[in-house]
Amino acid sequence: MDPTQLTVNGTVYSVRAATDTPLLYILRNDLKLKGVKFGCGVGMCGACTVMIDGLAARSCDVPLWSIAGKTIITIEGLAKAGVPHVLQQAFIDEQAAQCGYCTSGMIVAAAALLQLHPRPDVRQIHIALEQNLCRCGSHVRIVRAVQRAADALLS
Ligand code: FES
Repeated sequence: MDPTQLTVNGTVYSVRAATDTPLLYILRNDLKLKGVKFGCGVGMCGACTVMIDGLAARSCDVPLWSIAGKTIITIEGLAKAGVPHVLQQAFIDEQAAQCGYCTSGMIVAAAALLQLHPRPDVRQIHIALEQNLCRCGSHVRIVRAVQRAADALLS
């Protein structure tokens, strides 16, 4: 089994696993990045969202063979030197988590959104996050947190 090279949160890894192994398993089990959550395992909940080459993706639904040489960012890769990413701070400030299980995926999906649309309107936020499920009903606060982060990044 040939190793597959991945860049995860700025570090290059050489991973040996079956080529159909989901990225989620590599991140959690091999690289110990437990901020990436296993929810449904079938691409339906968004808990496992990461960025692949800047776009939000469900890591449970991404086989290893498809991401050789790509750049992956997980929730652990957003904070710098112990300082929370502006989205992480906005989620704290807006108290935009209840149980918190969806939060990693929400924040990474929102980070991908803000890269594409630095000043998203509410509809764009809804579209970007509608596939990320929150069973606690924190959606209003989550949208406010994304708006707060966008404002902070533009100020
Ligand atoms: Fe990947 Fe639910 S765990 S979408």
